Amino acid sequence: MKPVRVGICGLGTVGSGTVNVLVRNREEIARRLGRSVEIEQIGARRDNPACDTTGMNVTRDIFDVANNPDVDVLVELIGGYDTAKQLVLTAIANGKHVVTANKALIAEHGNEIFAAAREQGVIVAYEAGVAGGIPAIKALREGLSANKIQWLAGIINGTGNFILTEMRDKGSPFADVLKQAQELGYAEADPTFDVEGIDAAHKLTILASNAFGIPLHFDKAYTEGISAITPRDIQYATELGYRMKHLGIARRRGDGVELRVHPTLVPAKHLLASVDGVMNAVLMEGDAVGQTLYYGPGAGSDATASAVIADILDVARLLDAPTAAVAPLGFVESDQQIPVLP
Ligand code: NDP
Ligand code: HSE
Repeated sequence: MKPVRVGICGLGTVGSGTVNVLVRNREEIARRLGRSVEIEQIGARRDNPACDTTGMNVTRDIFDVANNPDVDVLVELIGGYDTAKQLVLTAIANGKHVVTANKALIAEHGNEIFAAAREQGVIVAYEAGVAGGIPAIKALREGLSANKIQWLAGIINGTGNFILTEMRDKGSPFADVLKQAQELGYAEADPTFDVEGIDAAHKLTILASNAFGIPLHFDKAYTEGISAITPRDIQYATELGYRMKHLGIARRRGDGVELRVHPTLVPAKHLLASVDGVMNAVLMEGDAVGQTLYYGPGAGSDATASAVIADILDVARLLDAPTAAVAPLGFVESDQQIPVLP
C-alpha cells in the first residue's frame, strides 16, 4: 500500500515529539497500519535541537505544506488562532485531511472548520487537543457510542493540576511551579490560558460537543481558574478531608447542557482526588455502561505526540474509504435541540 504522507507544521514541544515518535516507532506503526507513515515536509520557523530533521524536507513557510500536492495529511502544531485557522482552511481547501492538537482553534472556530471540511469531504481530527495522551475523544466517539452520556467531569489541564499538586506537597510558590511547568513544556504559549481556566474550558467545550452531539459553545462555558487559590486554601482542604482540584464538568440539566470549569473540593477518597501532577483524568457516565474513567498524562512532548499520531493513523485507515465513511470522524454531530445553558 502507498505510504501516508504527512506534513508537520510547528516544531515545538508537540511537533518535535511527533517527529521523534514517528521516526522511533516507524516500523511498529507500519506493521500496525499496513502502510508506512512518511514525513513529506516540515514547516518550522527555526530548527529544534530536540529533534533531528537532518535529511528531511523543511520549509520556513508553513503554507508550503498546506499547498504541497504530495502531502495527504497536514498536522497543525503551531498553536494560536489566526495563522493556524488560515493554515487549516487552506489545507482543507486543497483537499487535505487535518490533524491538530490545537484545542483553542477547535473550541472557538471548530464549527466553521468542520463545515469547510464537510464540504470538501476531508477529516479534521483533534484527539491530542483534549487531555494530552488520553484517548478521551475516541472513548466518546467509539467505546461509548451506544450510550446517552449523562455527564462527564475531569481534570483536563495538566499545568493547573501540576501547580496545585506541587503547592500541596512541597509548599512551592505558585509562580515558581508555573515556571517549572513552562520549562517542562506543559504550559500554553500564554500561560494565563492554563491558570485562568481558559484551556480547560476549550477542552470541556470539545468534550461536551462529542458527548452530547452539540455544536461547540465555548462562549457558554462558565470559566474560573486557579490563580486565586492560596497554599492556605489547599491546606484547609486537606485538613477537612478534601483535595483541591480544578475540574471541568459537563452535564445534562433539564432540557439543556451545562458547562463549567472551576476549582472544586473533591473528597480525598474519590478517584479524581488521587490524580496528581501533570496527569489528567476524565470520568464519564453513560446510561448503559455507567461510569468509566480515563487516566493518563495530560501534557508533554511524547505523550501528546502519541495522540497526534493515533489521529494520523485513524485518518490513514480511512483514506481509501468512501467519503460517507470518512466524514463522521472529524465532525461533531449537531443536535440543535439541546441548548447550552448559561
Ligand atoms: P510550542 O510553542 O512548543 O511549539 C509551537 C511551534 O510552532 C514553535 O516552534 C513555533 O516556532 C512554531 N510556529 C508558530 N507559528 C509558526 C509559524 N507561523 N510558522 C512556523 N512555525 C510556527 O507549542 P506546543 O508544541 O506546546 O503546542 C503546540 C500546540 O499543541 C498548541 O496548540 C497547544 O495548545 C497544543 N498542545 C500542547 C500540549 C503540550 O503538552 N505542550 C499538549 C496538547 C496540546 P517559534 O519557536 O519560532 O515560535
Ligand atoms: N497547557 C496544556 C495543559 C497542554 O497543561 O494541560 C495540554 O493540553
